[in-house]
Parts: sequence; C-alpha cells; structure tokens
Amino acid sequence: MSAEQFTQIFRDEHRKVRDVLFDLIQAFDRRDPQRIGALLGEAASYAGPHFRYEEESLYPALVEVFGRQYIEKLLHDHDRVIGTAARLVELSGKQALSVDDVAEATELVRSILPHVSDCDGLSIMVERLPAATVQDILATRERAWSENLELFTWTSGVRTRPAVSAEQIAREYVATTASTSAQAR
Ligand SMILES: [Fe+2]
Repeated sequence: MSAEQFTQIFRDEHRKVRDVLFDLIQAFDRRDPQRIGALLGEAASYAGPHFRYEEESLYPALVEVFGRQYIEKLLHDHDRVIGTAARLVELSGKQALSVDDVAEATELVRSILPHVSDCDGLSIMVERLPAATVQDILATRERAWSENLELFTWTSGVRTRPAVSAEQIAREYVATTASTSAQAR
C-alpha cells in the first residue's frame, strides 16, 4: 500500500472523529443523555485503536522528521484528550445538565478539534518516509484495529504513559473561565 493510500485512510479516520465531535456538541446543547452516551462510546471506540497505532508506530517514525519535541507535543495532546474524554463521561453522568455543564462540555469538545486537524496534516510528512516504514505503520494499524480496544480499556490496560486526569481538566477549565471573565470586566 502506498503513502497516498495511507493519507486516504488517515483522513477517513479523522473525518469520522471530527463528525462525532460536532455531533457531541449538538447532543450536549440539546441535553440528550442517550445520544451523548452513544456518541461518547463511539468516540472512544474510534480513538482507542487510532491513538494506539499512532503512538506505537506513526509518531515514533516521525521523530526523524520533526524531532522529539514536536512528537512529545502530539503525545501530550493525547494525554489531554484522554482526560478530556473522561471529564465528558463524568459530565454525561449528571442527573441534569446545567447551563455551565453544557458550556464546559462544548469548550472541552472544541479543545480536541485542533489535534484532529494537526494530526491529519501529518500524512503529508508520511509521504516522505521509506515505503517499508509506511508498511510498518499500516501493519501496526491493522493489529490495533483487530484488537480493537476502546480508549479507556487501552489507556488503563496497555498504554504506559500517564494521561491527564479528568479532575485536572475540570480544574483547568474553571481557572480559564475565571481568568477570561476577569479580563472581560
Ligand atoms: Fe490522529
């Protein structure tokens, strides 16, 4: 399989995640618990295998292109997405979502979007990698999808890197909101 085909597959995966994220914003806005739960499950089922092959194969292969620092940033984005997803699950479990809960959920889902577009752009660099490396990435992808561990199963059982906690994400959201409203005064 060629790098162009990788680009296509990669784009399709990000497109799915993007659409689930937009649907989630809408479901929180409508305070539709069933839909929120289903979409969070869908997001976790896509993100688990996707993050896994990125971290096990794609990101390491791109160290020679970007250097370690940028790859560390991508991994840190994943650490934060995992905590953000956990915080969204917490919010979704509330009896009734307040105006503040919906505002928080919307901001948290939005905070994931830049990683989706940044990550998708990596495929233009994958085109520069040797064909054998692209094959390795695709083989790791196949394995990750066949094992099919959803996000939280993968992070608690296989991923060794510590993620950011849901509590930390919630605290940071409160701190950012407080400083934004102080600036507006
Ligand atoms: Fe990605």
